[in-house]
Amino acid sequence: MRNKQEIVNALLAARSASPSKQACSFAPVNIALCKYWGKRDAELNLPNTSSLSVTLAPLGTNTTISLIDQADVVLLNCREQQASTPFSRKLVAFLDLFRTKENFYYLVDTENNIPTAAGLASSASGFAALVKALDQLHGWNLSTIELSILARLGSGSACRSIEEGFVEWQAGTRPDGMDSYGILLPERWPDLRLGVLTISTQEKAISSRQAMSITAATSTLYESWPRQVSKDMVSLKKAIAEQNFDLFGETAERNALAMHATMLSSWPPVFYWLSQTVEIAQKIWKLREEGLPLFFTMDAGPNIKLLFLQKNQQEIESQFKDVKVITPFN
Ligand code: DP6
Repeated sequence: MRNKQEIVNALLAARSASPSKQACSFAPVNIALCKYWGKRDAELNLPNTSSLSVTLAPLGTNTTISLIDQADVVLLNCREQQASTPFSRKLVAFLDLFRTKENFYYLVDTENNIPTAAGLASSASGFAALVKALDQLHGWNLSTIELSILARLGSGSACRSIEEGFVEWQAGTRPDGMDSYGILLPERWPDLRLGVLTISTQEKAISSRQAMSITAATSTLYESWPRQVSKDMVSLKKAIAEQNFDLFGETAERNALAMHATMLSSWPPVFYWLSQTVEIAQKIWKLREEGLPLFFTMDAGPNIKLLFLQKNQQEIESQFKDVKVITPFN
């Protein structure tokens, strides 16, 4: 089994479909503390390494889906999308995997409550919400593991948005990826805070997908990435279990910087940082030197996400006027 359709068929083979008229589901955004960067299988979005993230509910995607007679209809934030838009094409290609012989068509109504200005990606929550809604609509009763595998086929990081909290995506080793999915860690950390600093909302010139492929193919530093991840996964799990914030923040920041270092050493070089990104990183390092427990992480883009604890929230808000604070374990 090496293509998406075969995986979907295998997962749905024993399911009796009893479709209802409409289903609605929510999935949260997630931010990786140890990043997914590089694939061993681009068709199935199978990663080279494991990764670990935290979800940011209530930020995420609400998707309502119903069966209709004629061509698919796609709505994004209440606006109908032309079939030719990249959003519609990606979504319809994914829906194609789930159509039965009777030739179902779908009406998909997707709403992201993530302000565009938040600089947080919605594709992970989007695919996770879609898979959960499809499961409900068809009455398949899939497990969270199966839902995570299906979400991964849409976008790798989506497999970490099925459940809420700290989620580890176990890389797995099987060529069909049946052992590559997100698992919820039991720990919660109510005092943990995340602050989004949006530096740019412009669409990036190179997608994460392209960037990770260029990096894995050409960066000499990428050879050390799996070693970095192995160490960081152990440290992060220890930090979360012990609520050791310094270890947590240091590991997440180091991991994000190591990922960006692999991009910078690829060819052509991939560099998402803007001058403001550098200024803010330097401000964070200075505040930390002065004793403030503050760390950051970044995805494939210029925006910075601050990591801190509730007791320092006031100080952070006075230092960073535009910060949007999120409470992952509300
Ligand atoms: C930097 O999940 O968007 O955010 O699997 O190709 O859809 P595809 O990639 P995607 O990549 C996310 C990359 C990242 C790190 C992470 O979320 O772990």
